[in-house]
Amino acid sequence: MKDKHNIREDSPKKSGLRKIGVFTSGGDAPGMNAAIRAVTRAAIANKLKVVGIRRGYQGMIEGDFIPLRSADVSGIIQLGGTILRTARSNEFRTAEGRGKAWLQLQKAGIDAVVVIGGDGSFTGALTMSQEYNISFVGIPGTIDNDMYGTDYTIGYETALNSVVCAVDKIRDTAVSHGRIFIIEVMGREAGLLALNSGIACGAEVILIPESKEQHEELKRFLDKGYKDKERSGIIMVAEGDEPGGALKIAEKVRREHPDLDVRVSILGHIQRGGSPTANDRVNATRMGVAAVDALLDDQKSIMIGLDNGKIVQVPFNKAVKLNHSIDGELLEIQKMLNI
Ligand code: F6P
Repeated sequence: MKDKHNIREDSPKKSGLRKIGVFTSGGDAPGMNAAIRAVTRAAIANKLKVVGIRRGYQGMIEGDFIPLRSADVSGIIQLGGTILRTARSNEFRTAEGRGKAWLQLQKAGIDAVVVIGGDGSFTGALTMSQEYNISFVGIPGTIDNDMYGTDYTIGYETALNSVVCAVDKIRDTAVSHGRIFIIEVMGREAGLLALNSGIACGAEVILIPESKEQHEELKRFLDKGYKDKERSGIIMVAEGDEPGGALKIAEKVRREHPDLDVRVSILGHIQRGGSPTANDRVNATRMGVAAVDALLDDQKSIMIGLDNGKIVQVPFNKAVKLNHSIDGELLEIQKMLNI
């Protein structure tokens, strides 16, 4: 039985769950600390011990573990980055690396793990859970918002607002000088950040990896729209749109339209930092509690997601293998308004 605060009368479960690990992995995202705090405190409320695994899978391999008590996660909900730090581990991609990680988990008495990260992090968890008897539950944390099965990933909203703030400032100078700005935002394989920030900033063209048709839009804009109306322009580009990103596109535009005054701005890692928005904190908190709840229910290899505001559980193999789709309606709206 659960009470309304997710503290369970039967905790810890007969399944033998006593101690859980929590870690962050891959690119950091604002709100990860809120998730660490929620996981830690929800677990403690359910009489579980909690271990923080530092530096992602690399820290797991090296046994870089710290105990997490309630006080250790105090005062972190508003902080960007991750107090557990993060890493991308090549060693964990090898069977030998995963073997070492398994031994470290066993040595520390960790029965199950909450992994906060994206695609690559969940793929690693899925592989390890197929090789060893260990349960992983995932919380999606990436500014890309590109996971299948969830409307939302932790950090996306904060990053979106950071992009919008930056582009609004660039728009001021673009208008003053009558310049075209090609602005590159993160998204190696995903265009959602570029698409929504582009809509929010009234970008004239949005280039994303999911829709090559947008390059026709760019051509149309440069050939007609821009020259006719003598105005400045913002072209938003997701870094994964084409190799070379904004710099490559600017080269092409300058070659084809030498009369245009073109500038490039690559927003870079500024998008990954900063204090999380209220929504990022609330969603990270809800997902953190749901992750512990799932482990208490003996769930394994699932990601916690949000579907129309409701917490859902998505099998890892779906979350990592299927693509998050782009809202075609947003692209249509952008095209219609760009007259
Ligand atoms: O967090 C995801 C992401 O922001 C991608 O959009 C981007 O390509 C990548 O991380 C870059 O991260 P890093 O510089 O840490 O390798």
